[in-house]
Amino acid sequence: MRNLEISTYPDKGSWEDRIKFLLQFASFAPSTHNSQPWLCDIDRNICTVKYNHNIKLSESDPYNIYTLISLGCFVENLLIASNYYNIPTRINYIKKYNNLLDIKIYFGEGHTSHGNDNLFPYIMHRKNVRGEFKENIIDNSILRDIKELNVNKNIFLDIYTDKKDINLIATLTAKAIRIKYFSSSFRKEMSKWIVPSFSKRRTGLHGYSLRAPYLLSLVLPFLVRFFNLGTLLSKLNFQSINKASGVMIFSGDNNREEVVLEVGRLAERVMLYCVSKGLKTAIFIASLETEITKNKIKNCFNIDNPLFIIVFGKMDENIPFSPRKFIDDFVFIN
Ligand SMILES: Cc1cc2nc3c(=O)[nH]c(=O)nc-3n(C[C@H](O)[C@H](O)[C@H](O)COP(=O)(O)O)c2cc1C
Repeated sequence: MRNLEISTYPDKGSWEDRIKFLLQFASFAPSTHNSQPWLCDIDRNICTVKYNHNIKLSESDPYNIYTLISLGCFVENLLIASNYYNIPTRINYIKKYNNLLDIKIYFGEGHTSHGNDNLFPYIMHRKNVRGEFKENIIDNSILRDIKELNVNKNIFLDIYTDKKDINLIATLTAKAIRIKYFSSSFRKEMSKWIVPSFSKRRTGLHGYSLRAPYLLSLVLPFLVRFFNLGTLLSKLNFQSINKASGVMIFSGDNNREEVVLEVGRLAERVMLYCVSKGLKTAIFIASLETEITKNKIKNCFNIDNPLFIIVFGKMDENIPFSPRKFIDDFVFIN
């Protein structure tokens, strides 16, 4: 459980205090390599969420697709939290020339009931799991509810529970990881995000979250940088995906930033819903990162524009939560 008391919401406080409180929940969103690529400006009742340009993932995210998805997850948490505390919100996407879009959220305007506040308590419980799932069949009613969470006609969500399909995603993910780890520039970038378990750093992938033993985590950044661990990592990823109960593939037009951002929002809602049903989720996007594996996904599943992949199922684990930045490290008051 994360250490944030729901009952400490400052309902008599200023907009600044209230929005800052809500932003703590938003920051529990998942992000590529736990990079937390968000910055927020608060100006009275308006909070602008933007991309933090200091975070560059030129090898893992050259087109900023995963940054936008991370921002989408963050915004969805923020809106679910506002809804829970009965604060109406209005949201506006602002496209800036040569830049990723800004998301402006007006608190105290618009409406509250986008029907998600029952997901609020699960924001603090969701974590990206790694390891083997337990074989388990998911109830059809849960699969139907997940599909119904998608109310955006520009986004498609396909769910596969057939063992053959799950095995194909596991195989393509393993192949893509082998290809990516062949590149020394990819390994160099990756190694900067891997952090020994004991480190006080508040971003990145700590050894424990990767299930690396404590001592191994000390040298893991070095090993990733200077040795090709692709074969080993592809095996571990294969084992994890192959036993999952299902795979969800999100798709939509990747040339439209607002569509990619909305994929992130939907994905967060779906992950929180899974948590509410006692399921664990794990994000695996490697198979979308190489042309050859992405094309296989397009052809085999008949999906035009796959953007994001999550697997889900039951898993016994008690790995600590990944850390998050302090609020004052990403929130600025105008
Ligand atoms: C856009 C995106 C892509 C991700 N890709 C992967 C991935 O390919 N493999 C993986 O193990 N985790 C992936 N993750 C999960 C992040 O590593 C994880 O969210 C982050 O470390 C924070 O941990 P938490 O989600 O448990 O809080 C991804 C997350 C996002 C938002």
